Amino acid sequence: MSKHHHDGGRKRGLWSSRFGFIMASAGSAIGLGNIWKFPYITGMHGGGAFVLFYILCIFLVGIPIMLGEMVIGRHTRRNPVGAFRSLRGGIWTVTGWLVVAAGFVILSYYCVVAGWTLDYLLLSLRGAFSGQNAAQVPGLFSKLLASDARQLFWHAVFMSSVVAIVLRGVSKGLEKANKIMMPLLFLILLFLAVYGVLSPGGAPALHFLFSPDWSKLTPLVLLEALGQALFSLSLGMGAMLTYGSYADDGTNLPAAACAISFMDTCVAILAGLAIFPIVFTYGMQAAGGPGLVFKTLPVVFSRMPAGTLFAALFFLLLVFAALTSALSLLEVVVAYYCDEKKWDRRRAALLIGFVIFLLGVPSALSNGILKDIVFIGERNFLDSVDFLASTVMLPLGGLLIAVYTGWALTTRVAKSEIEKGEVRFHLYPVWHFLIKYITPVLVALVFLNKIGVF
Ligand code: PFF
Repeated sequence: MSKHHHDGGRKRGLWSSRFGFIMASAGSAIGLGNIWKFPYITGMHGGGAFVLFYILCIFLVGIPIMLGEMVIGRHTRRNPVGAFRSLRGGIWTVTGWLVVAAGFVILSYYCVVAGWTLDYLLLSLRGAFSGQNAAQVPGLFSKLLASDARQLFWHAVFMSSVVAIVLRGVSKGLEKANKIMMPLLFLILLFLAVYGVLSPGGAPALHFLFSPDWSKLTPLVLLEALGQALFSLSLGMGAMLTYGSYADDGTNLPAAACAISFMDTCVAILAGLAIFPIVFTYGMQAAGGPGLVFKTLPVVFSRMPAGTLFAALFFLLLVFAALTSALSLLEVVVAYYCDEKKWDRRRAALLIGFVIFLLGVPSALSNGILKDIVFIGERNFLDSVDFLASTVMLPLGGLLIAVYTGWALTTRVAKSEIEKGEVRFHLYPVWHFLIKYITPVLVALVFLNKIGVF
C-alpha cells in the first residue's frame, strides 16, 4: 500500500518507510560527483589536506543547508516554488523558480555524461579495453566524444530510464529503484575499495588520500572544496527540499541529514580508495583530471588480471550512481508541475523528460558537430551549461536557501517542524547559529569566486 499525504483536496505521495527516504536521498547525493569528480579533484589538489577541508565543509555548510531544505519541504509539503510561495511568497518565490530551473539545466547535461557511463559499461562488457596499449585506450574516449550518434543514443536511453522510474511515483518508482540500486552500489564499491587497499598500490594510495600536504591548500582550493560539498550533497537545487516533502511527520530530519551526508562522504572516500590504489599499482598519474575515470582507469583495466570484470563492475557502479541522482533532478521539476499545474505525474514525467532530453541534445553534440561553437567564455555547450548550473545557479540557490532558513524562517516554525513526533533536537541552537551566520557567508564566498569577482 502506498502512503499519501492529504492536504485540502490534494493527494501527494509519501515514502513508504524512513529507510526508503534515506536511501532515496542518499541516492540523490551519491552520484557522478562522488565517484567521478571527487577522486580527480582530490588528485589535483594534493590529497589529504583537501579531504580534511572537504569534511569540514560538510559540517559547516552541507548538513546545515540539507536540514534547512528538508524542514522547508516537509513543513510546506510542496515543490520548491510552491514551498516558497506558501511560506512568504514575494521575492522568495524567485528562489523556487531558480532551483527548479537549475534542475532542468543540470539534468540535461547530467544525462549526457551518464550516457558515457552506459557506453563504457557496454565497452567493458565486450572486453574492449583488454589487449589494447596505453596509447589506444584513451583514444576510445575521444572516439566516443566525436560520435554524435553514440552520445545521442545513450542520452536517449538514459533519459528514458529516468522517466520510466519517475512516472511510477514516489514509493513505487523512486523509492523502489533506490532501494534496489543503492545497496548494490555499496556492495560493488566496498568490494572494489577492499581490493584496492589490498593491492600493491594500496599503501601509497592511503598515504596520498590521508596525509595532508598543507602547502597545496590555497584559498581557491578551499572554495573548490566548498562548491564540491554543495554539489555532492545535491544542495541548492531543491532536491532535498522535494524529497523532504515526502517524508512523514515522525521522521527525524537532523538524524537523516547527518546519515545522508555521512554516507555521501564515505562513498566519495571509498571511490578514492577504489581508484587510486590501482592507478598507483600500474604507475599511472593520480592527477589525471576529468579524464581519470574515462581515460586513466580503462588503461589500468586493460592491464589488470580480470580487468574486464573490474571494468564492468566499476562502470555499473557509475551507472547506478548517476541514475539515482538523475531521478531526483527530474522529480524536482515533475513535483512542480504536479503540485502547481495539477498535471498528472505520468504526463509530467513524459513531457518534461522529453523537453529536457531536447535541451540535452546540444550538450551531446558539443564535442562533435558543435565542437567549434563556443558559448560562455571559451567553453563548448556542455561546459557552458555545466558552468551556468553548477557554478552559478547551485551556489546561488544554496545561498538563498541558507539565508531564507537562517533569517526568514522563524524559530517557532523551524523548531516545531523538526521536533514533530518524538524527535528532540538538542543541537538546534548550534544549527541555527551556523545557518544564520556561518553557512551563508561561506556560500557567498564560493559564489563570488565562481563568477569571477575574485
Ligand atoms: N549530488 C549529485 C552528484 O554528486 O553527482 C549531483 C546532483 C544531483 C546535484 C541532484 C544536484 C541535484 F539536485
